[in-house]
Amino acid sequence: MEIQNEKINIFNPVISFVRRLTKVYLVLYLKLKKDDFMIDDIIQISKEAGGLIRNAFGRAHSIEFKTNELNLVTETDKASEKLITDFIRKKYPSHGILAEEGSEVNPAKGGTEYLWVIDPLDGTTNFAHGLPIFAVSIGVQKNGETIAGVVYDVMRDVVFSAEKNSGSFENGKRINVSKNDNLGHGMLVTGFPYDIRENPDKAYERFIAFLKQARAIRRLGSAAIDFCYVANGVFDGFWEVSLHPWDICAGKLIVEEAGGLVTDFDGNKIDIYSKRILATNGFVHQKMIDVMKSV
Ligand code: IPD
Ligand code: CA
Ligand code: CA
Repeated sequence: MEIQNEKINIFNPVISFVRRLTKVYLVLYLKLKKDDFMIDDIIQISKEAGGLIRNAFGRAHSIEFKTNELNLVTETDKASEKLITDFIRKKYPSHGILAEEGSEVNPAKGGTEYLWVIDPLDGTTNFAHGLPIFAVSIGVQKNGETIAGVVYDVMRDVVFSAEKNSGSFENGKRINVSKNDNLGHGMLVTGFPYDIRENPDKAYERFIAFLKQARAIRRLGSAAIDFCYVANGVFDGFWEVSLHPWDICAGKLIVEEAGGLVTDFDGNKIDIYSKRILATNGFVHQKMIDVMKSV
């Protein structure tokens, strides 16, 4: 009898440790699982919004100007945003929303545990002029850190996606940045802000400097797609000034998870509220910083 009791006493701490471990594991698992479902939801709603945009492409649009006549918004930007934000409000009612066309739920930094950062149509000028290069871009932050991002390239029906620490994917296939470390052989991409005439911020000079150094420079008109083409190795680097959180959130994670580097023009760490963005394969990063410092 006594021996049995002793045995129980010896094993009690082990059993309670295993129990506690199981509990911690379960909580962690459920948390991860919750975020896991989220990426499927982000992909699904991006594709639905993309379908809406595709149906509207090539038809007449009601175009309004935002800050000036370079900065357009159409009824399709607004319809896409409504579709996405209606979905979030219904399925994730406690989550915050920061979206380009003004839908906001607790958009302040740290206002909510989860924040959806949305560009409902990235590449509006292309869309309005009939150029088939535009995307839906949705990033989700948890406590200020981007944990998931999806860019849906609408007319090519291509989904770029990433989750923190899980790699980047193009239609489900893992992607990586290029390995080129020679700027002279590099293909770069950039964009210009809508207020370039009033606030050029050396955009012309930087463009000319890179024209002299790189093999080729492109201007696609969709920052979200620019990021993704750095992630899949088409471009070696992308730089732009005056971007917004919804241009950056998903694309930055997709580049980083593909092995690339995203900083400001001095090589400093940035967040989605930063204005000067340099996204590269990492190998040409310092070389691009040097070129920008020379102007
Ligand atoms: C614009 C595009 C463009 C970039 C602009 C963005 P929008 O976004 O991403 O490529 O050069 O800075 O504002 O207005 O089409 O969503
Ligand atoms: Ca945009
Ligand atoms: Ca937009």
